Amino acid sequence: MSNLPEFIKFLYQEYRHLNSGSLASYIPELTKANPNWFAISVVTKEGEIFEIGDSQENFTIQSISKVFVYGMALEDCDRETLLEKIGVEPTGDPFNSVIRLDENSKRPDNPMVNAGAIATAGLIKGANATEKLNRMLDMFRRYIGHDVFINAPVFMSERATGHRNRALANLLLNFGIIENNIEEILDLYFQQCSLVVNCHDLAVMAATLANRGVNPITKEQGIKPCYIRDILSVMYTCGMYNYAGEWAYRVGIPAKSGVSGGIIGVIPDSAGIAVFSPLIDSRGNSIRGMKVFEALSDKFNLHLFDYPLPKCSFLDISENRIESIPKKIEFIFDKTKPL
Ligand code: DON
Repeated sequence: MSNLPEFIKFLYQEYRHLNSGSLASYIPELTKANPNWFAISVVTKEGEIFEIGDSQENFTIQSISKVFVYGMALEDCDRETLLEKIGVEPTGDPFNSVIRLDENSKRPDNPMVNAGAIATAGLIKGANATEKLNRMLDMFRRYIGHDVFINAPVFMSERATGHRNRALANLLLNFGIIENNIEEILDLYFQQCSLVVNCHDLAVMAATLANRGVNPITKEQGIKPCYIRDILSVMYTCGMYNYAGEWAYRVGIPAKSGVSGGIIGVIPDSAGIAVFSPLIDSRGNSIRGMKVFEALSDKFNLHLFDYPLPKCSFLDISENRIESIPKKIEFIFDKTKPL
């Protein structure tokens, strides 16, 4: 079990029967997910792919989108303008909390909670709603490397039931953080959350952040490299909501989760990691996903503060690589064979 392909296979087998947690149900469409779905994908900055399980199964990106739309807002506005509207402080509160927005600075604490993400959507530039959406979809396309689309039933489901988000948007308007086009801003936010991805796509997106903003497969620039440190900083401190502190302590990887069951992690200058399993805990984080990340971090010394600071020890597997076999096929676990 000395290298990455064997280790992710081991983790897949170890955790595939862990069935604690539940499907997100406050967005009714998300209850249609299969609780057995499970995938682990790793994409290196050189474009090598290691994955196992349901890595091609589509689902909606949900809160993981916040990372990438924040990057877009940084490019659209710049760091200081953005900081005036949205802070970078972890909240320790649930992702959809209304309380701190009203109690504290009247500005969302950070762009990873819903209040901050709605404010971020309000800063995306474009002459009208269609242009804003198209710019956003093009941004996601560059990160993912193929055409993207929105899951309309999930979008409609969020729009019909997003009463807390509507309350947050009204408070943001009240405090002068967003303009008086609440429904347009909320639609853009619900659309970004309803973007269709799979675990493989998420690992490519994370690898793009690890690779100075360049998609390692297509070589297209997803974001200007000068903003990567801003994005990774808020992922590290705020990406796992009210588990962010313990995540930083136990795992030590800048990460972001979503209620549909995805988690991405970025190993700067090395690789992107994604895990997908829709059973989540009360904070909205995938239970198998957290287990896999913790195990990967321990096994390969990926914690940011591991000493001595290795760049990415799990990539030191050159003797075990079979260069002649297409990499994507080589390490996909064959689900038709018994474990
Ligand atoms: O606005 C919401 O509540 C969802 N569209 C996204 C929430 C989410 O993914 C939080 N993640 N853990």
